This record gives sequence, C-alpha cells and structure tokens, in this order.
Amino acid sequence: MKRILQLSFLLLIISGLSCRNEKPIAKVIDGSLTFSVNQYKLLAESMKGLTDQLPRSLDEKGKLMTAESHWWTSGFFPGSLWYLYEYSKDTSLKSEAEAETMKIENEKFTKTSHDLGFMLYCSFGNGLRITGDEKDNEVLLTGARSLSTRFRANIGCIQSWGSSAKWQCPVIIDNMMNLELLMWAFKNTGDSSFYRIAVIHADTTMKYHFRKDFSSFHVVSYDTTTGKVQARQTAQGFSDSSAWARGQSWGLYGYTMMYRETHLGRYLNQAQHIADFLINNQNMPEDKIPYWDYDAPGIPNATRDASAGSVMASALIELSGYVPEKEGKKYLKVAERQIRSLASPVYMAESGRNGNFILMHSVGSIPANSEVDVPLTYADYYFIEAMMRYRALLLKSR
Ligand code: GLY
Repeated sequence: MKRILQLSFLLLIISGLSCRNEKPIAKVIDGSLTFSVNQYKLLAESMKGLTDQLPRSLDEKGKLMTAESHWWTSGFFPGSLWYLYEYSKDTSLKSEAEAETMKIENEKFTKTSHDLGFMLYCSFGNGLRITGDEKDNEVLLTGARSLSTRFRANIGCIQSWGSSAKWQCPVIIDNMMNLELLMWAFKNTGDSSFYRIAVIHADTTMKYHFRKDFSSFHVVSYDTTTGKVQARQTAQGFSDSSAWARGQSWGLYGYTMMYRETHLGRYLNQAQHIADFLINNQNMPEDKIPYWDYDAPGIPNATRDASAGSVMASALIELSGYVPEKEGKKYLKVAERQIRSLASPVYMAESGRNGNFILMHSVGSIPANSEVDVPLTYADYYFIEAMMRYRALLLKSR
C-alpha cells in the first residue's frame, strides 16, 4: 500500500510538471490509443482474405508485407488487437483478435524456432489474460513444451537459431523474451522444469552475454561438445563489440520480467544496470528514441529505431514499480518522454497512411539491408503495451 501511495505521489508530481508546458500524458495516451484503435481497424480490413498471413511491414514500394505464422513476428498483430480491445471494449476488435490469434495455433508444435514466446505469448497469452478462455491454456502449454526441447543442458541455454558452420549453438539476447512463456507454464502447471530452464537460461545469459558496462552482445555461440563460449558476435548490430539498440531493450525487458516472475534480486540488479547503461548513454538522443545501434556510424544522422524505443519504454514502466522512489521516477521520466516522442508526428503515422501501421521509423536489420526505416508490428505492439502500462499506473493513482 505504501508503495502504491509513493507511486501515486510520484505520478502526480510528474503529471503536474508535464502540465506546465505539455499536454498531460494521460491525454497523449488516450489520444494515441484511440488513434491506434482506428488505424488497426483499417489494417485488419486490409488483411481480409489473407487467411494464412499476418501483417509484417511495408516493402520498398510502400506495399503491405505480410508473413506466415512461422515468422517470428506473427504474434504481435493479434497481441496488439487484444490490447486495443482491452482499451476500447470494441467487440469488433475482439473478433479480429480471435481470428488473427487462431492463425498461429499450429506454431505450438514448432521445435525449430526459439521465438515461440513472442509468437504465442503475445497472441494467446494476451487472449487468455483478457478473456480467460480455457482453450488457450493447451496452446500455451504445448508451445512451452516445444520451446523447452531447445534447451541444451550442457550449455545452460535455449538454442536460438539452428547450427551452422559459423555457430554451433547460437543464442541471441532476444531469447530472454521467450522465457515469459516458460514462466507462465511453470505458474500454471507447477512443473518446475519450466522454471529451471528459464532461470538457468537467464543466469547463463547474464554471465556470457554482458560486457562490463552492461551492454550486451547480440549473439553468443556455444561449443556443443564442451558447452563453452565459441564466439561473441553480432548479426543485426553494427559490429561485434557494439550495442545493438533493440538487443539492449530486449535484455532490459527480459530481466525486468524475470524479476517479476521469480523475485530473484540478481535479475532486478541486472535490469537496473542495463537501464542505467541506456539512460546514461552519451548516444541516447534527446527524444530518447535510440539510434539503431548505440555505436552506429554517422550519429547524430544515423537511422533511429522506434521499436527499440517502444520496447524500452514498456520495460522501464514495469521496472519503475520494483525500485525505490528515486529510481522509479527516473525510469518513468524516460518512458514518458519516449511515449511522447513516439506519439508525435515525427514517429506516429497519419490516419490511413504508413500501411495502417501506427509507428514509422523502425529497423529490422541494417547489416542485411532488410526493413530499414519502416513500420514494424513489434514497434506498434510494445508502444501500445507501454501506453497501457502507463495508463494503468495513472488509473491506480487516481
Ligand atoms: N528477434 C529479432 C529481432 O529483434 O529483430
């Protein structure tokens, strides 16, 4: 109760400060969520007839790019629809969310990808949270079992990508996000093997993925025989030693979530160290939307990655609830700036434009010259989630 009162006071101060020069954050969020509802209705409309496809981005000609359910981003569109239904109570969004979610069901059997957490937890996980529909339990549990088959006990990690001549057992920082599905399975079955896999993976990642300054490598590959680190490199970042922006946000979100699920202090410390690395980074722009890599060449003219900003905002809002008031205030202030920036015309599309995605200016992979400065479903998803989380804090503080 004391914590809620402190947080309420903090929010009152923050919204009071904002009021002097800017629109109150509550209004920014309500306006942006209302816009998102309308924009996603248009996106859903444009998906009619594409029964085995989900939206992904825009191609070079500005045409809608879709993907089948096995692409790692498949869960974000249905997940966003669930959040927007939760916000608006508009039952047409519920029907869309249900239909889009069902497109992914078969992925519960997938054992060749580590992305099952992204795919299933964002879609079925949100559906279950909002509707309590029992049938979602089976999908999530089957998915968690499939994901567990990728755990390599001698390494202590879930394998991300397949083995190649370059990497025997590649594990990417993004994989921290998939642990939420395992923690759900543990809570709902009591089967401690899910907990054990998630905790061992998080501990191994903490040991080998992070540098002294708490930035992280994108890819750590392990030797499948000895279990030792084989290589530390990048796939989507500027260089092996750089801090790829979205990867840093995945790490922040992942350890914050693992602290929520386990209450283990080492995960909270890790999340705070990552947050502080990002917040104090000399290359963090004024509007708090990161360049695609904190060490990208050409800063301040380097491309921004709105997705890195939206994942970070959502994580910081959650993290602010687990730390003493002073730190909480610091995290919320950055998250609020990120929401305001993303909600501005610099990043937020005009109605009916941008392929009906919400945000512009994200980056898939610059080294692969793929999805550069485009809308991406996960930028939208975590932006909506960040706004829902901030809104929930505001409602609680009333
Ligand atoms: N998980 C892949 C990415 O963040 O691009």
